[in-house]
Amino acid sequence: MNFDKIDREARKILRRNDRGGYTVPTAGLYPYQWNWDSCFAAWGFSTFDVKRAWFEIHTLFTGQWDNGMLPHIIFHKRADGYFPGPDVWDVPRVPHTSGISQPPVAATMIRSIYEADKRYGRVHMELIYGRLVSWHRWFIKNRMERGMIAITHPWESGRDNARDWDKAMANIDPTGVGEYHRRDTDHVDPEMRPKKEDYDRYLKIVYHNRDCGWNEEKIAKTGLFRVADVGITFIFLRACRDLLHIALELDHETAEIEGWIKDLEAGVENHWNPKGFYDSVDLKTGEFTDSLSSASFFEWYSGMSGDRMLGHLNRILDEVKFGVPSNDPEDEHFNPKRYWRGPVWGMVNTLIGIGLDEQGHIKTAERLRKETQELIAEHGFYEYFSPLDGAPEGGDVFTWTAAIWLTWAGPHAKGRF
Ligand code: DGY
Repeated sequence: MNFDKIDREARKILRRNDRGGYTVPTAGLYPYQWNWDSCFAAWGFSTFDVKRAWFEIHTLFTGQWDNGMLPHIIFHKRADGYFPGPDVWDVPRVPHTSGISQPPVAATMIRSIYEADKRYGRVHMELIYGRLVSWHRWFIKNRMERGMIAITHPWESGRDNARDWDKAMANIDPTGVGEYHRRDTDHVDPEMRPKKEDYDRYLKIVYHNRDCGWNEEKIAKTGLFRVADVGITFIFLRACRDLLHIALELDHETAEIEGWIKDLEAGVENHWNPKGFYDSVDLKTGEFTDSLSSASFFEWYSGMSGDRMLGHLNRILDEVKFGVPSNDPEDEHFNPKRYWRGPVWGMVNTLIGIGLDEQGHIKTAERLRKETQELIAEHGFYEYFSPLDGAPEGGDVFTWTAAIWLTWAGPHAKGRF
């Protein structure tokens, strides 16, 4: 295996998906700047071009709303082939953006980019720090319930059609969404994407929240979907820890952030399903979603040191050829092809693997890194893969798959933040 060649290929993908200050996840399927994809891109760039990494971050934050929210898509330039575009979201600001957020990996990635070159990064870190704090405050003010973080749309989780949302989605009546032309299935095999019944509901929620004027209080009261996302709670807890670290380094006040961390650490317990795993919670019904997904394994990444998820992880790794599947293979709805209902995602493995390593589960971390390395080296820089045989799925030439090769999965990667 010529690993140097694969390293070069990964760097080339980041350059190729660069649209001038921001990186698209992949041409065609996702032609704009996506929030967490972009943070992974910046982290990838930081391995060979730290200036470009910071540029990515600044461009991302041009999309930040006055209330602190950092949207999930920034529509810098018109691009064809994506639905729903800026006209559907109808957010009255420039650059145009969507009206929802996405998993807050930014503080964690930004800390790593800063640490790659502190001398160069210091002024950028100072500039971006306040913006990060105001985004985190937005989550606390609008989305924290019992120490867990709520999403108002499955797209906010980044795990669009995960099992976690099934029950909540079934409670939404999709009538009235009307005709629309999905564009994702123009680019990718429909078997690998969410179903029409999901899309109808995705749109129904967008229309409802848009009719609320994207006002968080109104959405909290009348919204059709409100689920505490186990993935985001863990990711946000980790991000708060990294934000605290940055605050200490820059000599800023820390009490507020320390308070958030305490509340989130307590909230993690509320994600524990007595059936024996971390789970999301439907806040409209108070019920667990009864889904063991790959996000349940972000416990270690969040900085918690427990080992109560290790049994499930080892079982699942033994059940598939390539871990970690996005859904438990023993679940009756497990589907190795369909997006977040089974496929393996390299960036998810990265967060799980780094967490395992940090918490001392070195062997499992290394196993996961090797499996991810093999997946990418043998099958290419795809969006996701079949956990059963590694078959490539979704978009090709994918930014965050290239980024995690350079930062974690590849043999020359640092393997940590
Ligand atoms: C999509 O369009 O599939 C995205 O996941 C929504 O952000």
